[in-house]
Amino acid sequence: MKIIIPKERYPGEKRVATSPSIVTQLIDLGFDVSIETNAGVAASFTDIEYQSVGAKIVDDANLLFIDADIVLKVRAPILEANNGFDEISAMKAGTILISFIWPAQNEVLLQRLADQKITVLAMDAVPRISRAQKMDALSSMANIAGYRAVIEAANTFGRFFTGQITAAGRIKPAKVMVIGAGVAGLSAIGTAKSLGAIVRAFDTRLEVKDQILSLDAEFLELDFSEDSSGAGGYAKTMSKEFIDAEMALFAEQAKDVDIIITTALIPGKPAPLLITADMVKSMKQGSVIVDLAAEQGGNCALTEAHEIVIQHGVTIIGYCNLPSRLAAQSSQLYASNIFHLLAELVPDKNGQIIINMENEVIRATTVVKDGVITWSPPIAPAPAKVVTKSQPKNMEIIPMADKEESALNRFIRDITLAALGGCILWGLGLIAPASFMAHFSVFILACFVGYMVIWNVSASLHTPLMSITNAISSIIILGALLQVSSSINTIMWLSSFAILIASINIVGGFSVTHRMLKMFTK
Ligand code: NAI
Repeated sequence: MKIIIPKERYPGEKRVATSPSIVTQLIDLGFDVSIETNAGVAASFTDIEYQSVGAKIVDDANLLFIDADIVLKVRAPILEANNGFDEISAMKAGTILISFIWPAQNEVLLQRLADQKITVLAMDAVPRISRAQKMDALSSMANIAGYRAVIEAANTFGRFFTGQITAAGRIKPAKVMVIGAGVAGLSAIGTAKSLGAIVRAFDTRLEVKDQILSLDAEFLELDFSEDSSGAGGYAKTMSKEFIDAEMALFAEQAKDVDIIITTALIPGKPAPLLITADMVKSMKQGSVIVDLAAEQGGNCALTEAHEIVIQHGVTIIGYCNLPSRLAAQSSQLYASNIFHLLAELVPDKNGQIIINMENEVIRATTVVKDGVITWSPPIAPAPAKVVTKSQPKNMEIIPMADKEESALNRFIRDITLAALGGCILWGLGLIAPASFMAHFSVFILACFVGYMVIWNVSASLHTPLMSITNAISSIIILGALLQVSSSINTIMWLSSFAILIASINIVGGFSVTHRMLKMFTK
């Protein structure tokens, strides 16, 4: 089948749906690849680079679309013709379009594509499940947006992020507050932290606390309990009381921090208003707010989507195209996400797409199939409930009787096993010679002691497995040392060999651990 990648026609869009390195992989999947002239230039990929890996460059967009089987795009096709070219009309019936679509917000577009009998896979509809992570373009883009949000803030903010002691005096580090610790929020926290700022973060989902702490940021906690997990791994809308409580927290923080990055959103809902005009007014002159939720109405009352505004001496950035501002990186990640989706669609690597609606990832992503709108997919089950704070609201309580019963069961099982072992030994003792029984009992006791020693080793190396194998190797070395001076040559050589192999294992364990630790030291 033939894949085409047209130039993005949305004003200001610099990304492209594939990169030269991914073209190679698409060809390996059995596809022919054609790209519109200069489609990748704004993302720093030249036509020559694409051509050198086997893509065909086509100058005329009409010619490009005419024999396309699969169209790869970043932005959803524009409804109206752009510069005299209408992408939707250019696609013939039966074409497969893979692109961001936002089907919930774009009903008219969806209907138009269905009328045209185009099969549409929406990259924004890839479910957020572990198996589909490599295809999750929303996460790839949010990661870039979080990073870029900090860079935009740093570009506008008039001071260092990091603290310094200089001859001219002490410079305090900047204080950054991140609201919403989803993909974009966590990326912003990591970036601000690596620039040296003091970072605080808040999220309604308490399960992100550990992730925030692991990035060395401070988790802002409310003295308020409410279950926050909704369907599909996303947060749910919080009660008015909760929102009031978190806004009181933000009002306090606004007076103290220099930069606020807001990413709070519940998919399919308008962004919650969390930063009021009064909070902006209370911030220090020169402070910066980057509102990533600008396109969904904004988390800040004074945000203007797509714009930078200065209000009360505070710069409020409402850019909605942050990934496009890092076009080479975002095109590369997006291209990789699309490649993994195509790999799922072409199980036989023969360039023939099979849209298997039994496959949960393909089912969720397919929003139009052969002219029929298949959006929205069946709802993913909610993850296990998380109970906020120490409130045992939804905790499963195991009745005491059950606990006692399981302990009793364990005791009976142990006694039975011990009795069985005893019987086998006694039976063996009746027929085996006394010298065999003496050695055999020592062997059984040695196994028991060895087992207890090994499983009680505390794991201090890179992995518990490594600690345990090192403990086993140590015991082997001890045994071999006792035997190495034997007068029998075979025993002496076997012991020497055991010492050599076990030593390699121990030294290897320590050296791998050392190398792993070095990866975390700056
Ligand atoms: P996400 O769903 O992974 O994270 C959103 C987080 O907000 C969740 O952790 C959720 O628990 C939290 N949240 C929801 N309500 C909250 C509240 N009332 N208070 C505090 N936290 C709350 O979403 P993701 O992928 O991280 O994206 C975040 C935002 O960034 C979205 O608005 C998305 O549209 C936007 N975005 C903006 C881009 C731009 O160029 N401006 C580019 C990419 C994403």
